[in-house]
Amino acid sequence: RTSELESLNRAELSHVSRLNMMGEMAATIIHELGQPLSATLNYLHGCELRLESKDYAPELFHSAISQAICNAERAAAIVKHLRQQCMRQIGPEFVPTDINVLIEEMIIFLDFERRQYGITILPSLGKGLPTLLADPLEIKQVILNLFKNAIEAMSTTEESNRLLEVTTLWGQQRWIEVSVADRGHGVSKKQLARIFKPFFTTKQSGLGLGLAICRSIIEAHGGRLTAGNNLHGGATFRFTLPANR
Ligand SMILES: Nc1ncnc2c1ncn2[C@@H]1O[C@H](COP(=O)(O)OP(=O)(O)OP(=O)(O)O)[C@@H](O)[C@H]1O
Ligand SMILES: [Mg+2]
Repeated sequence: RTSELESLNRAELSHVSRLNMMGEMAATIIHELGQPLSATLNYLHGCELRLESKDYAPELFHSAISQAICNAERAAAIVKHLRQQCMRQIGPEFVPTDINVLIEEMIIFLDFERRQYGITILPSLGKGLPTLLADPLEIKQVILNLFKNAIEAMSTTEESNRLLEVTTLWGQQRWIEVSVADRGHGVSKKQLARIFKPFFTTKQSGLGLGLAICRSIIEAHGGRLTAGNNLHGGATFRFTLPANR
């Protein structure tokens, strides 16, 4: 009887986590695939227009194609990652990872948006950090979502003040800490308690999934993701990850 109950419990539990997994995958598909796909389309449409008007500089053309490839590759990597998760039916795969490399990669990846919004990114990446045991694709998703939120929050900030500071440091013993600080509108006290909930958004075309996905990823890595306001305006999002020691 006890073992029957136990196996029922286990079946139920695995069902619950499976549902969460499917929910999370759906969220990832909706939230993370759209952006690289529409960026790919935009770049390719741009190329087509230039071809039609026979008005193109080869360097620009080349750069647009590279950007399209880069975004399509990102979409493909996300699909491959979801496929692997489905097949293994477990969480992320952890490998030794250098957090600074991931951040630098995402700064380059967002270069177009950064320039479009007139934002300066100021990295202050700790030297001699230990590696993490992490799933690099997922951590890149987190960094990207936090960067995008910061950029969006600064759309009404005076242009000379649009600064995004990203810092990594090796905190107390086991933990590596990453913070993303912006000079945007900040988060009101009332909203602070809700921003990590799925579907909470204050944006006209937001889904409200970015932070929920980020928190779920960080917690699956054994870390914490928190938010707060800066003394002189803007918000800071901070996450910790266990060092590989
Ligand atoms: N850097 C920030 N500064 C101020 N408010 C923020 C910041 N990041 C998030 N928020 C608030 O938290 C809400 C939820 O963020 P979240 O990333 O989950 O969703 P979203 O950006 O609205 O939509 P999307 O699903 O496209 O990411 C935002 O709508 C915004 O109100
Ligand atoms: Mg967002």
